[in-house]
Amino acid sequence: MIRLVKSPILVLFHGVAHTEIIPISHANTHNPKMESSQIPIPTPIPSPIITTPLFQIRPYHPSDVTSCTAAINSNSPLIAKYMRNTFPNPATLAGTETWIQTCMEATFSPREILINYAIVSGDEFIGSLGFKPMKDIEYRTFEIGYWVRHESWGKGIMTAAVREFVRWGFETFPELERIEAQVFDDNEASAKVLTKAGFLFEGARRRAGYKPTLGGLFDIRMYGVTKGDVFGDKA
Ligand SMILES: CC(C)(COP(=O)(O)OP(=O)(O)OC[C@H]1O[C@@H](n2cnc3c(N)ncnc32)[C@H](O)[C@@H]1OP(=O)(O)O)[C@@H](O)C(=O)NCCC(=O)NCCS
Repeated sequence: MIRLVKSPILVLFHGVAHTEIIPISHANTHNPKMESSQIPIPTPIPSPIITTPLFQIRPYHPSDVTSCTAAINSNSPLIAKYMRNTFPNPATLAGTETWIQTCMEATFSPREILINYAIVSGDEFIGSLGFKPMKDIEYRTFEIGYWVRHESWGKGIMTAAVREFVRWGFETFPELERIEAQVFDDNEASAKVLTKAGFLFEGARRRAGYKPTLGGLFDIRMYGVTKGDVFGDKA
């Protein structure tokens, strides 16, 4: 799920923008200063919103361009396989720069809190995850999306990241009631991540997906978790 969209989402893939773009100078997690390029340079690297022994989840920073590009290109065909058709394969520095700028600007209106984040371990860029707020009657639902660089697969990183990010989302956005994910019907790793992170399988949207590189049409599996599922009676 990298290109300039109005609202990003790394869901099973990256999607169409659904949020209002807030000027970076209004975002509360940055202290931007403008340099010669168009990208505002926040100083220093933003603090994590989530810290675990394995990784940190923090806002994107312009200095992530090279390492984020390398993370995608660790195996872009395999990572892109289960992402939206717009996910880069391979990634380019210019495309990643555009994506990062989008991530530094896209917030959930009216809270002006960023919705796309980098997963890092110290200086190492490991992966990415984010929310796409829905609209209209689905206003209280976010879609989640994510990917991990290939050499970090199978270490429990995304299971832990999704579990923590979901809790953070419900705690940070009081109006948020439900988080959902859409998964390609044969993406067993992602299905396992979601199930282990507390999501329920809710059914399949038959033949809803179309990806020429995967041979055409496929079912999309729906997973969801509610605030009550996570916090029980305290929700
Ligand atoms: C899906 C993805 C994010 C998982 O990240 P990860 O950090 O490797 O996930 P974890 O290590 O936390 O857990 C993955 C689980 O799936 C299992 N798994 C991995 N590959 C699998 C496969 N091909 N078939 C079945 N299970 C698989 C792992 O064994 C693990 O389960 P376990 O803990 O019971 O052993 C990663 O594979 C990825 O980036 N894929 C490409 C992009 C993508 O699919 N994004 C999600 C779109 S919905």
